[in-house]
Amino acid sequence: MYFEFSEEQLMIRDAARDFANTELKPGVIERDEHQKFPAEQVKKLGELGFLGMMVDPKYNGSGLDTVSYVLAMEELSKIDASASVVVSVNNSLVCFGLEKYGSEEQKEKYLKPLASGEKIGAFCLSEPEAGSDATSQQTSAIDMGDHYLLNGTKNWITNGSSASTYLVIAQTNPAKRHQGINALIVERGMEGFTIGPKENKLGIRGSDTHSLMFSDVKVPKENRIGEEGFGFKFAMKTLEGGRIGIASQALGIASGAYELALGYSQERKAFGKPISGHQAIQFKLADMATEIEAARMLCLKAAWLKDQGLPYAQASSMAKLYASQVAMKVTVEAVQIHGGYGFVKEYHVERLMRDAKITQIYEGTSEIQRIIIAREILK
Ligand code: CAA
Ligand code: FAD
Repeated sequence: MYFEFSEEQLMIRDAARDFANTELKPGVIERDEHQKFPAEQVKKLGELGFLGMMVDPKYNGSGLDTVSYVLAMEELSKIDASASVVVSVNNSLVCFGLEKYGSEEQKEKYLKPLASGEKIGAFCLSEPEAGSDATSQQTSAIDMGDHYLLNGTKNWITNGSSASTYLVIAQTNPAKRHQGINALIVERGMEGFTIGPKENKLGIRGSDTHSLMFSDVKVPKENRIGEEGFGFKFAMKTLEGGRIGIASQALGIASGAYELALGYSQERKAFGKPISGHQAIQFKLADMATEIEAARMLCLKAAWLKDQGLPYAQASSMAKLYASQVAMKVTVEAVQIHGGYGFVKEYHVERLMRDAKITQIYEGTSEIQRIIIAREILK
């Protein structure tokens, strides 16, 4: 067993770190405050190959491994989780799903511009009445011969108004329950497809989260991913990898907050010495560092398993469950170490604390991760 990264992996990590510090950091507070989508920054991320990191170069991807993806996600998320969620969704939900399960024509038409960052994608599973209980899909895709007629509402869709390509999960045959569900590629601008207003959120405020409404949208049959009835398995398999992305986002939020708290504790003086000289603060830092390292190991293990072609569902759920817990705990402690300064925006940690919460909710809540882990253990 080697605990060493390759030169290429380190190069990717450093490139992501540089990008985060030079391109994401300026303006991150304002974007959060005004809920501004990081459009220019996302465009540059695409040009640098961060939006199709693991996609084969023949489809315009960067051809990197999942370990590199974890390293990049951590660095980007230390600074701006609203930007890193775009990277996560585009890479591990949309590009992965299309590359692994799409037809050659779908890859040519849809994957190529998504992997190059020319276009952005969205993954649309959740509905007003189907979040954790994802098999209860109400959005319907009626088989009309050469096309599906799509009707319904999707909730909470990341990249909702910035995307051009939407992978939409919908029910075709309710009698078959989850085996009647299909995954369809929907293009922005298709007649009958409308986008609701942007959600006003606690965290990742720069990310554009919207409801999507479909009213008699005609989706050509050739836009179905995989066989008839494969849609639910498609969503589940895709989310296995997506959770590595969100786990790494949580890791980055935690390590970003930790680095700020560490630096601040060495500068801020109280009772005649830096607060890092007080054992109560040292113990906080020691716990934060230890838990972040454990979360990092879980993220890298899940990524490594995926890169080896080994099963990784349990590992990715463990990584997401644990890293999101660590993100919440560490960011709260980082605010505490900053005292009153931690409570104002200029010091960044309050934003990281707000951003951390979503990692316990999306791509399966912590309770859902426990259900998946328990099922795997008891299988
Ligand atoms: N791989 C392949 N198939 C799978 C699977 C997997 N990982 N997990 C489940 N399935 C299959 C099962 O085998 C079963 O099929 P068969 O009966 O044909 O064998 C079918 O799916 C139904 O499975 P379950 O009986 O286990 O279904 P369930 O109703 O008990 O729910 C669940 C399972 C794991 C809780 C699932 O509903 C789930 O993952 N819920 C959470 C949804 C979620 O993560 N949403 C995220 C939305 S995307 C997002 O959030 C993006 C973002 O924020 C940025
Ligand atoms: P519910 O499923 O109603 O859960 C409510 C509570 O009950 C939770 O605590 C949950 O853990 C608990 N619970 C539910 N079932 C059980 C059970 N069996 N046992 C124990 N506890 C249970 N979805 C997408 O499809 N695409 C996206 O791009 C996307 N982006 C998102 C971005 C944001 C900012 C947000 C807030 C959400 C996003 N989501 C997206 C939706 C997200 O995946 C769901 O919110 C999440 O899966 C939970 O579903 P829900 O909100 O309906 O909560």
